[in-house]
Amino acid sequence: MRRPLVAGNWKMNGSREAIDLLLDGLSGISTTAEVAVFPPYVYLPQVVSTLCGSGIDVGAQNVSEYQAGAYTGEVAADMLSDIGCRYVLVGHSERRSLFGEKDRQVAEKFVASQRSGLIPVLCVGETLEQRASGKTLAVIAAQLDAVLERAGLESVCNGVIAYEPVWAIGTGKTATAEQAQEIHREIRQQLGEPGMKTRILYGGSVKAANAAELFAQQDVDGALIGGASLDSDEFREICKKACVAN
Ligand code: 13P
Repeated sequence: MRRPLVAGNWKMNGSREAIDLLLDGLSGISTTAEVAVFPPYVYLPQVVSTLCGSGIDVGAQNVSEYQAGAYTGEVAADMLSDIGCRYVLVGHSERRSLFGEKDRQVAEKFVASQRSGLIPVLCVGETLEQRASGKTLAVIAAQLDAVLERAGLESVCNGVIAYEPVWAIGTGKTATAEQAQEIHREIRQQLGEPGMKTRILYGGSVKAANAAELFAQQDVDGALIGGASLDSDEFREICKKACVAN
């Protein structure tokens, strides 16, 4: 039985004050799903300290593939672990498309995260153009393969995978529950037997209104939520649906 994970990626949003308010709104959240939030780097200590003992985990949105040294502006996995992070996103489509992250670099980040005891959330997904030309499965298989080759099957299966179709991110266009299930099933098939324990999250315009249908799918084990995670009422509602559905 895979415990669902509801993860809120706050992206580059917030201020100390706004985050205090948001966290206030999440206090006493009641769900049997695991919940995690991913604030911008600079607010991680504030969020870790506020959420201590709340049952909500904290993750970072990115990590360096390097361990330490002369890498100006980078943040090492050991540092994230040191300040109390449990999770880290690797290969988010915004990192891939806006900051040029390639599969190999994503694979290095995945390995670096696990080496420091973090749980990487590996993001994969196709663009609209790739979907339209029938390349969805090949694109996702290649993104996954790069990490499988570098980290090995068992390590990948110990992480979390997030399927986020690029065309559904921040656009209000969610994949249908059937479209999500189809890709999640393919990903699990690619992982084989060890992948039965791996949580595969769906991301892309998830809201309280569409969460239950997505969570009802056999291979959807939670969600990675952007915009709706900045609204505590909406996020709480999504968390509630994760526990009833799975
Ligand atoms: P939205 O929920 O805003 O579409 O963002 C999804 C996402 O990119 C989460 O990582």
